[in-house]
Amino acid sequence: MTDGHWARMGAIWRFVGPPLRPSAQDGALFEAAIHQWQKQHASPPRALILGVTPELYSLRWPAGTTLKALDASQQMVDAVWLGSPSAAVIGSWTAIPFADNSLDIVVLDGGFGMLRYPDQQAQLLGELRRVLAVDGIFVVRLFSPVGRTGSTASIFADLAAGKIASLDALKLRLWGALHGEPTVGVQPRRVVASIREAVGEFDQLATRYGWALPHVRALEFHRDSMATYYLTEAAEVARLAGEELGGFNLLDITEPDYELGHCCPIVTLQRRG
Ligand SMILES: C[S@@+](CC[C@H](N)C(=O)[O-])C[C@H]1O[C@@H](n2cnc3c(N)ncnc32)[C@H](O)[C@@H]1O
Repeated sequence: MTDGHWARMGAIWRFVGPPLRPSAQDGALFEAAIHQWQKQHASPPRALILGVTPELYSLRWPAGTTLKALDASQQMVDAVWLGSPSAAVIGSWTAIPFADNSLDIVVLDGGFGMLRYPDQQAQLLGELRRVLAVDGIFVVRLFSPVGRTGSTASIFADLAAGKIASLDALKLRLWGALHGEPTVGVQPRRVVASIREAVGEFDQLATRYGWALPHVRALEFHRDSMATYYLTEAAEVARLAGEELGGFNLLDITEPDYELGHCCPIVTLQRRG
């Protein structure tokens, strides 16, 4: 995804909500994994957020935690990052600019599927195996809606009946419905085209359902986008990390119980010794 896309997303970030941003329950699940690690270690963790997600920065990190963020977009850092500017490192998740064994906890909300399956996703997991110390954990909330959100026809029927709570819920369901094979993924551009076909002008979504107009109009950002999301299943992420790279044990997969939470599992992987 281009830096320009995230520059524009920074401006509408405040309109994005759960399930595309973490809910309080997601925060509690991230914290449970972090505190479980802390219980078994005497020193505070050296932690890294992939991206600049404010809810991850605001978790109740153990006293003394060293917390940094890694994001490719300076504009997103400027628009969204709540920490000190020096704690935000500009760089790529597939070439992590940190030393071997230098981190204890890495967290990521929702960005895993922005990496191509399987090569870039394996590259990230390989980088995490390198930068995490033995016993270090990677906690990631995935978007895994494929096969769980109904057909496009049923989604637009639910929309017309007022049964879809937000634009974010609509997007997540359509990602699931329009996703191809794991290596094919889903293009946000196709999702936006399907919304246009079904509802006409995007402004209608604001008028009919009371959704924020700037958020609805931001659908335009995707119209010419060449981005593809690869929304991998939790079990497959665990398989890639454990079997193919051989570097991680699966500690936990939890599906939160909010609406569409079954499409947003939180996976905890632990670096093997
Ligand atoms: C953390 S992700 C997703 C956050 C949110 N939950 C969502 O789904 O929209 C968004 C961030 O990831 C960053 N990003 C995406 N791919 C990246 C990569 N390969 N390397 C570094 N940063 C990346 C973008 O710049 C953006 O700030």
